[in-house]
This record gives sequence, structure tokens and C-alpha cells, in this order.
Amino acid sequence: MSLNKNTIEDIELKGKKALVRCDFNVPLKDGKITDENRLIGAIPTIKYLMGKGAKVILCSHMGKPKGEVKPELSLAPVAKRLSELLGKEVVFAADDNVVGEKAKASVEKMKDGDILLLENTRFRKEETKNEENFSKELASLADIFVNDAFGTAHRAHCSTVGVTEFLPVSVCGYLIQKELKFLGEAVENPVRPFVAILGGAKVSDKINVINNLLEKVDTLIIGGGMSYTFLKSQGFTIGNSLVEEDKVEYAKEMIEKAKAKGVKLLLPIDNVVADKFAADANPIITENQNIKEGYMGLDIGPKTATIYAEEVKKAKTVIWNGPMGVFEFDNFASGTIEVAKAMAESEATTVIGGGDSAAAVNQLGFGEEMTHISTGGGASLEFLEGIELPGIAALNDK
Ligand code: 3PG
Repeated sequence: MSLNKNTIEDIELKGKKALVRCDFNVPLKDGKITDENRLIGAIPTIKYLMGKGAKVILCSHMGKPKGEVKPELSLAPVAKRLSELLGKEVVFAADDNVVGEKAKASVEKMKDGDILLLENTRFRKEETKNEENFSKELASLADIFVNDAFGTAHRAHCSTVGVTEFLPVSVCGYLIQKELKFLGEAVENPVRPFVAILGGAKVSDKINVINNLLEKVDTLIIGGGMSYTFLKSQGFTIGNSLVEEDKVEYAKEMIEKAKAKGVKLLLPIDNVVADKFAADANPIITENQNIKEGYMGLDIGPKTATIYAEEVKKAKTVIWNGPMGVFEFDNFASGTIEVAKAMAESEATTVIGGGDSAAAVNQLGFGEEMTHISTGGGASLEFLEGIELPGIAALNDK
């Protein structure tokens, strides 16, 4: 996939109606946005377009309403918060048809530099099926298309892919440009040593990521729930730890692949275990890899954390996806904290894959210290798998 895409800086914007696909799929609680990183991530593009005198028509999905109008998934709270963040009104086109008469009338009224937000694109059933009629409707509102929704770039939907067929110009915004720069350069052209740290609950979520990264990295570090499947594949006992029996063989193959490729693959050499999965469970450190019957691994042990931190210190590029343990429980957060700290202190390019790892790094207070935290969950994983992201592929090459 070419990552060399035209951007908003390559095109004429004055007076142009720009349809801008953002990923405003943010968590809401009682109508309030609880994590606004994706809103903040969209601001540089919106400000640039405004400043150049474009009419900025924003659109996004939220949740999975499956073609039905679900008021609790309306983008109204996003329009309100974005207005505050931008210091300029973001007019909300409260139109259940997304591109119905109300939305069209609101677009007609726009002046250069104005900003409008359409209703949740998934209120239309055609959206996720990438059906032509809705793509055409979206395109009919605008002169050009800007995609800045990195988090949705792995979805071939009307508002990410279909619409590009009906507009003469489709470019990326600053957020996608930044994601491609950091994720793309880290994976395709890393300054070495290149270390990848993979954690999280399941091997099955990361099968293709492990396989693809083994082609690229110098060191692969494994932690989190998935490490117990790897430990089992090497003949260690894992007690009641999380395990995917049907992935034990795969884990073994990956360890063999790493050996054959000369990649250093690190597994925990000690674990923090407990007799139950609970915040108040008593943490016990194992002497070695083995976990006794009746206990489950909930974090990497302190010796392991030191080794992993040392590897991070030696690296020039580090990518991290997936926590090292159940960091939500204080007793089992040390491994994740040690790795995050080593990354924060490192001079290397440090890239955090989205989703849980981004949440962990921000929650633990290391967010500011990282080179880049991806706004994509599924999208950044697919990127690390080496899969072409349709929302990016559809944009004009340089
Ligand atoms: C995400 O949060 O990963 C993106 O917004 C995509 O959402 P989806 O998984 O509902 O397509």
C-alpha cells in the first residue's frame, strides 16, 4: 500500500466545500464524552481548513446503530464539545437522514470558514455496506473529500471509501498523515534496534501481528494474558492462567520462526500470580516461569520487567500494543508501568498502538512522553498486520 498520499496542503481550499471524515467514535457516559483524544486529534485539520477559507463539513460514525436512528448515539454532544475546543460554533445538522433536507439546507447557509457536523453516518443502513446511493448523497454535499478518520480506515464504508468515487479530489488530513508517518516509518523503515512489545489477553487477536512483526523487528517481547499460551508451548506449567489451547502450537511455531530469523523473542521469566481474578487478590511472585495449580498469572514478574525495560533502553524504535498485565488492578499494574516508564525515558521513537495500550499509557500518566499514540484500535492492529487499509488506499497518491 502506498503511504505517500496527497494531503490538505496539496490542494486549493478557498471557498471549497470539504467533506471531512473524522473518527468521532468516542466513549460517552450520561451524554458526556469520557475520552476526547479523538476530538483533539481532529483539530489541526479542522483549523487548517477553516483558516484556508474552506466550508468544513464534518462527518463520523458513533457506535453501531446498524442503520437505525438511536438518539443515544447522536453526534450532538460531539458538536457541542468541538465548538468549545475550537472556540467557534460547530453547527450540528440534526438530520436523521444524515444527508436529508435539513442537512442540505444547513450546508447551503455555510460561509467560508464555517464548520458543520452531520449526524451519525451509521444511522443510514447503507453506510456499512458501502452502498452507492449514500456515497453519492454524501459526495453531493461537497467539492472535495478529506479523510482524517484513521480509527476507521480499516472499514470500507460509504463515508470512508465509497464517497471517494464521486468526488474529484480525496486527500488525507493531518491526523492520518501523522499516523502514517509514525506507524508507517516504524514498521517499514525503523531505526534499529527495533523492538516490538506485544501484550493483551489473547494470542488470537494478534496472530497476524506477531507473524508480520517477526519479519521486521530485532526483538519481540511478549507479555500479558497471551504470554501464558506461549509459556505453555515451551512446556512450563501455567496453573489456571488464561490459555488458548488451540493456539499453543501456533505459539511454538512463532518461537521457532523467531529463532530461524535471528529475532530475539522474550517471554516472562517470572510472573505475578493470584488465586483469583480480583482487584483485592493477593499478589505472589513466582520464582521462575512456572505457575502452580490454583493460581493464575496476572502480570509479568519484577525480573521480567527489568529485562524488558533494558531491551527498551537499547532500542531506537519501539512499538507497543497490549498491556503486560491486568493494569486496571493496582496489585497487577507494575509490569505495564515499568514498560511504560522505560518507553517514556527512552530517546527512541516510541509508538503506542491504539485501544487498551493507549488507555493504559494515558491512564498511567505517560501519554505526553511518547512520540506517538495511535488513535486507531482495530485500524492500528491491521496496519501492524501489514494489511492494506481501504480508507487509505482510496485516497489520491502523490
Ligand atoms: C474504533 O473505535 O475502532 C473505530 O471507530 C471503528 O469502529 P467500529 O469497530 O465500530 O467499526
